[in-house]
Amino acid sequence: MDKLLIQGGTPLSGEVAISGAKNAALPILCASLLCAEPLRLSNVPHLNDISTMLRLIAQMGVGVTLDGTDGLLLDSSGLNNPLAPYDMVKTMRASILVLGPLLARCGEARVSLPGGCAIGARPVDQHIKGLQAMGAEVHVENGYVHAKATRLKGARIVTDMVTVTGTENLMMAAVLADGETVIENAAREPEVVDLANCLVAMGAQISGAGTDIVRIRGVERLHGATHPIMPDRIETGTYLCAAAATGGAIRLLKTSAAYLDAVVDKLLDAGCDIAVERDSIALKAPQKLKAVSLRTAPYPAFPTDMQAQFMAINCVAEGSAVIRETIFENRFMHAVELIRLGADIRIDANNAVVTGVARLDGATVMATDLRASASLVIAGLVAQGETLIERIYHLDRGYERIEEKLMKLGALVKRVH
Ligand code: UD1
Repeated sequence: MDKLLIQGGTPLSGEVAISGAKNAALPILCASLLCAEPLRLSNVPHLNDISTMLRLIAQMGVGVTLDGTDGLLLDSSGLNNPLAPYDMVKTMRASILVLGPLLARCGEARVSLPGGCAIGARPVDQHIKGLQAMGAEVHVENGYVHAKATRLKGARIVTDMVTVTGTENLMMAAVLADGETVIENAAREPEVVDLANCLVAMGAQISGAGTDIVRIRGVERLHGATHPIMPDRIETGTYLCAAAATGGAIRLLKTSAAYLDAVVDKLLDAGCDIAVERDSIALKAPQKLKAVSLRTAPYPAFPTDMQAQFMAINCVAEGSAVIRETIFENRFMHAVELIRLGADIRIDANNAVVTGVARLDGATVMATDLRASASLVIAGLVAQGETLIERIYHLDRGYERIEEKLMKLGALVKRVH
């Protein structure tokens, strides 16, 4: 298993380009299942989660052709196997995103339940409830969701909580339904909007994406389209945090601050200078960061996917901060690893009190989930001496060529096989 060896203590500097958003690309790959004409995508990130999703849809009969360096051509004209087997689904929860499109296009779907994951139980009851409201017959048996519907019917769906993939799954199911579907309490995440834009380019009729009420008027069929994947706001935020923590100055290209208000605000509170242009963001760290308290919540509030990275920042800032996680029940696993590097963190249920220390020292630590791994990388870049991060397959799920990008910014990082 690959490990990442980091020699800490070098401030990041220079420029690097941000990749396409993993969490936008995953549902959009599933959107290709909705129509028999080709979907051409660009700015698709090279990530393990993307390869997993491509393998999953390929075994359903989708033709996948690489198109240039970051492009894909997806051809679902031969879709013949609406099944997502456990072996593929167990490695990636987002596989549940095939359920809505398969049901809408094929009239049936058999998708393995994703099961729990390290950061929390993460059930899919809202996805199922929404499909049932649209007239689907859904049974959960032997670890699989079996769903059937000759044609889904438009419905009013009020989700119990804001769910990102839930909103996306129901939106994809509704585009081919008979009549209008209204999703209330919908997720407002920019990735939901990117998916809606792609579906609209394919001929879907959707309004309100990006607000908490999304209206979808079903159409008979969709057609082929071309769509560029939006930049990854979480990758952007992660590199900004790495520059802030190391006392660096960097510029991130091919990205946008438009979806990062809550993160940029916290970096400004921490004392960073930030300059935003249309397609780039530059950050200059202060002499000493100030600790910043935060509370995670659905977009446009502070994203749970940036919580771990800000914990790393607070470890070396001046003062104490309280981090409150409200989305997932077990998302502080990075804290114990950060403590191994010398951090001062106290956890009390879903609150973490982080008090900045004068220095962190390198150690061997273990990555436990995707964003937790990012916080360990940031801490390793700051720590004196060597930090060895084990199980970096988590990082490879969500950060494209991370060691290459960090080296471009001057970090001393090496992948160890
Ligand atoms: C997505 C993101 C993930 C991010 C998360 C929250 C993708 C591929 N993943 O995950 O990176 O951390 O949003 O911003 O886009 N819930 C239920 N029942 C459901 C659905 C959700 O109880 O049917 C709960 C979850 O357990 C969680 C909360 O709702 O506590 C929000 O989860 P959700 O927004 O669905 O997360 P994902 O879409 O899985």
